[in-house]
Amino acid sequence: MTKTVTILGLESSCDDTAAAIVRHTEGQAPEILSSIVAGQANLHAAFGGVVPEIAARAHTEKLDICVEQAMAEANLGFSDLDAIAVTAGPGLIGGVLAGVMLAKGLAAGTGLPLIGINHLAGHALTPRLTDGAAFPYLMLLVSGGHSQFLLVKGTDNYTRLGGTIDDAPGEAFDKTARLLGLPQPGGPSVEAEARHGDPKRFRLPRPLLDRPGFDMSFSGLKTALLRERDKLVARDGGLHRQDRADLCASFQAAVTDVLAEKSRRALADYMSLAPARPTFAVAGGVSANMTIRAALESVSEQAGATFLAPPLRLCTDNAAMIAWAGVERFRAGQFDDMTLQARPRWPLDQTAPAMLGSGKKGAKA
Ligand code: KG4
Ligand code: ZN
Repeated sequence: MTKTVTILGLESSCDDTAAAIVRHTEGQAPEILSSIVAGQANLHAAFGGVVPEIAARAHTEKLDICVEQAMAEANLGFSDLDAIAVTAGPGLIGGVLAGVMLAKGLAAGTGLPLIGINHLAGHALTPRLTDGAAFPYLMLLVSGGHSQFLLVKGTDNYTRLGGTIDDAPGEAFDKTARLLGLPQPGGPSVEAEARHGDPKRFRLPRPLLDRPGFDMSFSGLKTALLRERDKLVARDGGLHRQDRADLCASFQAAVTDVLAEKSRRALADYMSLAPARPTFAVAGGVSANMTIRAALESVSEQAGATFLAPPLRLCTDNAAMIAWAGVERFRAGQFDDMTLQARPRWPLDQTAPAMLGSGKKGAKA
């Protein structure tokens, strides 16, 4: 087995164009030699969501520049690399295609092996990059496009315990911000308002808590919030600052309660496997929320599992996680060739029932 592996990773499945280089020597902690992320938020701001055509074009323009920067920052040439890893799905197909085409071109030009990565596997394997988490661990992915509990049992072995049946929680935060006239992305602005609000003033629903299992739903919560807002507007002719803060706090409390309770159930299921090093890891933009993070940490501790929240730059979309997933596949001898396809949908757990709906950032795999 190769002692040291150095991989270039590419990511372009949503609205971040990214390239990164990760090096791993057996028995040592992996090193992120460079990680470049070029966001596109400004290009989509006027449209209230990611516009796939604009995203694809921006990826095509930015990918090679990101690769150049990643190589320069790591101070490496292509002959120092062992393989090229690229997100091959799931995601907005134009962006995924842009990444796969560039990776194929680079592989053809350099003779390096090509490794296609499932974007969700990139997120799911991040706790191994940052903390050396041991299989099996429990993972909660919560962002603008993802919302699922995964049992991560191996590099290529995942069980999806459950997830949202409609909106992802980040999407619900974004829509709530829009309803209340707060800036995007909604998560940070709703959290900031919630800090001086009363979480008990509005009794918003806790969807699906009355049903067994791990599935979640957030779209009804947003509708309930809209009703409360409209009642206030009809009564007072507008929203007072305190009303807005109380609505944000009440909304955040409802999302937190749902995520905490479903995590408690998922942890109970996971702990019944008697894992050697029990670990509960979170990833995705929503895990930046301090109230949610604290609640998840507390249920994790109660269950006897170590709580891991990777640094935010590695929780949100990036290419270091793709390069790291590439290291894992390289070590497992799993390579692709020029027949590698870009896939809009690509569930990690092929046996789980298909998810309903599609988020603002593309298909929910
Ligand atoms: O992981 P991410 O950067 O991108 C994907 O969606 O894949 O997550 C972005 C999402 C947005 O919906 C944003 O509103 C949400 O994460 N978010 C938050 C917070 N920071 C970001 N949600 C709640 N609280 C936050 N502090
Ligand atoms: Zn993602």
